[in-house]
Amino acid sequence: MSRLEEAARAIAQHAYAPYSKFVVGAAVEMDGAVYAAVNVENASYPLSVCAERNAIAGAVAAGARHLAAVAVFTTASPPSSPCGGCRQVLREFAADPAKVTITAINDRGERRAWTLDQLLPDSFSGKELP
Ligand code: THU
Repeated sequence: MSRLEEAARAIAQHAYAPYSKFVVGAAVEMDGAVYAAVNVENASYPLSVCAERNAIAGAVAAGARHLAAVAVFTTASPPSSPCGGCRQVLREFAADPAKVTITAINDRGERRAWTLDQLLPDSFSGKELP
């Protein structure tokens, strides 16, 4: 298991998911460092925040800006991929989405992997903006 995958797996125990019971740990590699986070739910359900988004927030708050790789740990089989909203948030920090790898793992040792470009083809990068 890679350093990134291990970080996602280790932090998942701290997920705050009393409503869905769907525990998620995510880790991003940005500017050479690893930032990991969990999903944080709320009694007002739509205010819940995914693990991937929280990991990005931590990395950005630390000053990192360039996304290289993502790992997501769940207990789902097959391993669960990032939701659509998180794919777009990841895209914001991916200079080249074809070079950003996303690996989904679970507690059974199963694994799936993609590039961000595969998960979010023809993406909106922001370069379209005036
Ligand atoms: N969740 C994530 O943390 N990441 C995803 O990519 C999919 C969904 C969380 C949000 C919520 O806390 C729970 O999983 C069920 O949707």
